[in-house]
Amino acid sequence: MTTDKEQQELRRDKIGANEQTPREIVAELDKFIVGQDEAKKSVAIALRNRWRSRQLTGSMKDDIIPKNILMIGSTGVGKTEIARRLAKLVKAPFIKVEATKFTEVGYVGRDVESIVRDLAETAVRMVRAQRMDEVKEKAEELAEERILDVFVPEPKKSQNPLGRLFGGDDDEDEEDDKEQKKVEPKYQAGREWVRKRLKKGELEEELIEINVEESTRPMVSMFSGSSLEGMGDNLQDMIGSLMPKRHRKRKVTVAAARKIFAQEEAAKLIDMDEVAEDAVYVAERSGIVFLDEIDKVAVRGNTGGADVSREGVQRDILPIVEGSTVVTKYGPVKTDHILFIAAGAFHTAKPSDLIPELQGRFPIRVELKSLRKEDFEKILTEPQNALIKQYRALLATENVELTFADSAISRIAQLACDVNDEAEDIGARRLHTLLEKLMEDISFNAPDMKDEERKVVIDDKYVDDKLAEIVKSSDLSQFIL
Ligand SMILES: Nc1ncnc2c1ncn2[C@@H]1O[C@H](COP(=O)(O)OP(=O)(O)OP(=O)(O)O)[C@@H](O)[C@H]1O
Ligand SMILES: [Mg+2]
Repeated sequence: MTTDKEQQELRRDKIGANEQTPREIVAELDKFIVGQDEAKKSVAIALRNRWRSRQLTGSMKDDIIPKNILMIGSTGVGKTEIARRLAKLVKAPFIKVEATKFTEVGYVGRDVESIVRDLAETAVRMVRAQRMDEVKEKAEELAEERILDVFVPEPKKSQNPLGRLFGGDDDEDEEDDKEQKKVEPKYQAGREWVRKRLKKGELEEELIEINVEESTRPMVSMFSGSSLEGMGDNLQDMIGSLMPKRHRKRKVTVAAARKIFAQEEAAKLIDMDEVAEDAVYVAERSGIVFLDEIDKVAVRGNTGGADVSREGVQRDILPIVEGSTVVTKYGPVKTDHILFIAAGAFHTAKPSDLIPELQGRFPIRVELKSLRKEDFEKILTEPQNALIKQYRALLATENVELTFADSAISRIAQLACDVNDEAEDIGARRLHTLLEKLMEDISFNAPDMKDEERKVVIDDKYVDDKLAEIVKSSDLSQFIL
């Protein structure tokens, strides 16, 4: 027998659950990120461990806390990209924050607890969307009823012109009653007739005037962005709920009205208290925080000055990573089981420059490798959103058919390597600058091209023509590429 609490947990554990195996997660990441297998593997394992601990019960479930990951790799090798793709992949609440955005408690700026508040917010949005989905059918039915009300409004006594004209003092009610009896069947018949046409979809393009609820949020948004951010949120909600819901008339098609009404009705069907409770649970158990640019708050040696504040940020981050309770407007959120993935280039500072307590909270270290020529070739062509594919798609809108010969790809990759070695290693970002320069003329001329010019083949010669000079001169390449 399972208790109520266990039942509830079972239900909540299904929210935001990722069922993919590590292999499947890696395969998904492979579609966008070239190489970096080690990093992909460890995030995949971490995600799967989430799933595993969900299957457990009792104290074991509580005792197993996630192993946080620290990704180390020079700039432009795909750290943030992994986070971005992971965010799309996981169904759990996920947020990505930059460590540099935070200031020590007491100073002007965002305090680190806002990370947890944001995570709770994400979780609420997620749970709410899911709940909305569950009540979708019911909401759509109700929406149709409301559209019917617009087409065939309910007859009102006072609106009855006959009643107003002939209504005496004494027998007004009686007259009205009689009228009502005459109107009622007509009203019902009219409604049925419109209902049928609505169901057949014959009225979708019809324009109707409806009342829409106007949200009051934007009016009080001036509270956000201050250091009293959390409080600002609460104030906003308070003021929002105190103010009467404003309605605005809008002319829309029936199809659009269906969507608007369905949203409003779904919102009414959902128990927001339950959503908040579930969301807090999901944020606590499945939440993932990606802490980017963590190296920027690490300090080398003891230099004092501005660095004191950076160390302060680390000290503030510590309790959150370690496990503490942060009060959010949806309730207190315990951070013990939140998975943290930190990333940094660690060009100047080393992981060992982080305060020791924090180092210890990131037991899994993965290194992302510097990208070489073969990687660049793949990055240019293979990912679903590969740069070459992007340029092809962009120029196709101008009826220009762009083709890159293999020789060109190889050449661009080589040049990227050369410039990275010569100047600064900015990883795959170098490809962006190189390609932008390479494509400059074509991009500019595309709209004016003659028909016979609209098939453009780019080969190694073209690449050399456009870029070799710049690459050779380190002075030039420093500025242009
Ligand atoms: N391994 C890779 N596969 C595919 N694309 C990549 C890879 N590495 C980097 N890129 C591309 O290069 C650009 C920069 O990568 P990303 O933002 O991940 O850098 P980063 O490692 O976070 O660097 P930084 O330390 O400067 O933040 C992105 O547009 C990304 O698509
Ligand atoms: Mg980054």
